[in-house]
Amino acid sequence: MTQFERIIILTGAGISAESGLDTFRDKGGIWEKYDLMKVATPEAFARDPEMVHEFYNLRRAAVKTVHPNAAHMALARLEREYPGEILLVTQNVDDLHEKAGSRNICHMHGELGKIRCRSCRQVMDWWDDLVTETVCPLCTKSGQLRPHIVWFGEVPFHLNKIAQFIENADLFISIGTSGQVYPASGFIQAATDAGAHTVELNREPSDGYSLFEETCYGPATEVVPQYVENLLKEAHA
Ligand code: APR
Repeated sequence: MTQFERIIILTGAGISAESGLDTFRDKGGIWEKYDLMKVATPEAFARDPEMVHEFYNLRRAAVKTVHPNAAHMALARLEREYPGEILLVTQNVDDLHEKAGSRNICHMHGELGKIRCRSCRQVMDWWDDLVTETVCPLCTKSGQLRPHIVWFGEVPFHLNKIAQFIENADLFISIGTSGQVYPASGFIQAATDAGAHTVELNREPSDGYSLFEETCYGPATEVVPQYVENLLKEAHA
């Protein structure tokens, strides 16, 4: 008996932490090392594109060296084995969910492994370094390529698709996010309004912890596989 028909899962940097990727707001996180106003806004890119390219070149290189962990693998298993519809929305720009085998994924903040050309507007896979002089492989213009990342002040991707899914969801699971960045931090309220059961799986309570009906705290590689195992057991009972 499947308790839930439509499950939406939101992940943040915390699900990739045990794979070795930095989170943003933990001690020693990315925003402690870099000023986001200098590396993650359209104005920063206009002012000093080389600094922005270098920031993403370093993060692109780091992602190439890490592997999905048990939490990513558990979500891929859930998508494979659960007899209901599942949408995985991630704020993360790494490709660890894909590497774990998840398929129905919305990267609402973009992807480190993609770039786009401001001239021909094409989005293309790209895992090498990017510098201002790099020539667009499609339109051959130079100085027009940028990371396919949503910067602060830009509109995240797939918001309509996410909103429509949440409206009809009956389970919302939030994993590894501090709940500090909108619009992702507003999904819990939308899921609650839709009447979904809401669950937070995190190392510690997020900013929105009190809005969740169910919470379980601990490392994602422990709490996520356990939660998935229980969901699958109930579904196949
Ligand atoms: N297991 C589970 N949760 C963890 C772990 C872990 N091993 N390590 C850290 N966390 C939790 C932290 O407790 C925190 O709540 O993950 C969360 C990480 O929060 P942030 O660093 O704020 O990352 P995130 O919520 O994904 O940030 C959202 O902000 O800067 C923007 O675009 C960026 O997508 C990012 C967005």
